[in-house]
Amino acid sequence: AHVWRGVLREYADRLGVTDASTVVTLGEGGTPLLPAPALSRRTGTDVWVKFEGMNPTGSFKDRGMTVAVSRAIDHGAKAVICASTGNTSASAAAYAAHAGITAAVLVPEGKIAMGKLSQAVAHNGRLIQIRGNFDDCLEIARELADNYPVHLVNSVNPDRIDGQKTAAYEIVEQLGDAPDFHFIPVGNAGNYTAYTRGYTEEAQAGVSTRVPRMFGFQAAGSAPLVRGEVVKDPDTVASAIRIGNPASWDLAIDARAATDGYFGAIDDDRILAAQKLLSSEVGIFVEPASAISVAGLLDRVEAGIVPQGSRVVLTVTGHGLKDPHWALRNADGSQVEPTVVDATTSEVASVLELAPAA
Ligand code: F0G
Repeated sequence: AHVWRGVLREYADRLGVTDASTVVTLGEGGTPLLPAPALSRRTGTDVWVKFEGMNPTGSFKDRGMTVAVSRAIDHGAKAVICASTGNTSASAAAYAAHAGITAAVLVPEGKIAMGKLSQAVAHNGRLIQIRGNFDDCLEIARELADNYPVHLVNSVNPDRIDGQKTAAYEIVEQLGDAPDFHFIPVGNAGNYTAYTRGYTEEAQAGVSTRVPRMFGFQAAGSAPLVRGEVVKDPDTVASAIRIGNPASWDLAIDARAATDGYFGAIDDDRILAAQKLLSSEVGIFVEPASAISVAGLLDRVEAGIVPQGSRVVLTVTGHGLKDPHWALRNADGSQVEPTVVDATTSEVASVLELAPAA
């Protein structure tokens, strides 16, 4: 059996890794690409889900962070810094801990999920909550990196994009070719850019026959790329993508043009319904931001844009356990109340409406 060694070693030649390179890895990458029969039936397409919540810190950020932190160390960095809606900070803190360096992480006060906050603290990140939104955090992180000895590991750092494009390599290998369409959540649009690069490289190398149409989705209350203007006060339940001024804006517009792609907006109710659909009918639990890929597919199928029989890959970016309270909320906003009974077999059988076996 092949033992996965993390993206820097698995893709050493493509990522320029030599014997002299530092490799800081937690075993990221090599994530499952799972068929989703319930979604295929519902949409008349051939749907596959790239489950990036299976990375070591529970999100796709680890693919970029292994590269960014390793190269930071080769540049002599003793500290890294990032702004984050939660997942980047969890990942930066974990990789910095493994490497024995410091991670400073700036997050919007009260706006990141508890699981992610816990991760940053657990990994001894220097966590600072900013009275502002993500866009304010990123501006400060960039200024600090410009003026102080701290190395920026947000996706404006090309090392992050380099690592994240390996997900596209894996999909081409897993399917034997690129899909017709790729659906993906968009915040800063770094990952959208990374997949486009990964797929383009594979096609240019002749490994795949096509580059998929890249369909990116933002939350309706936080959809600058759809609206074509910065959103001053972005708002959505999908806290991971609550971003009003995407850092990779221009790259994303180029990637959309190059792939005959699309940016769409999805409201919060449809995001949460898609999250529930994926967990209850496919068995994959993701955080709300990730479920927007599923909602985006349903939206575009309904609009008649995705031909029947198309092969479709959905990236789901982060694990549901990072932000679990949404699963305990009913569609009408009320709280799910687990059933409680006395400790008797007959009571449990009765609640489960089980008839005795004949
Ligand atoms: N999905 C999840 C779960 C994310 O955490 C993010 C971004 C995205 C999608 C969007 O990716 O920014 O490359 O377009 N999270 C960043 C963070 C902003 O700080 O964790 P993008």
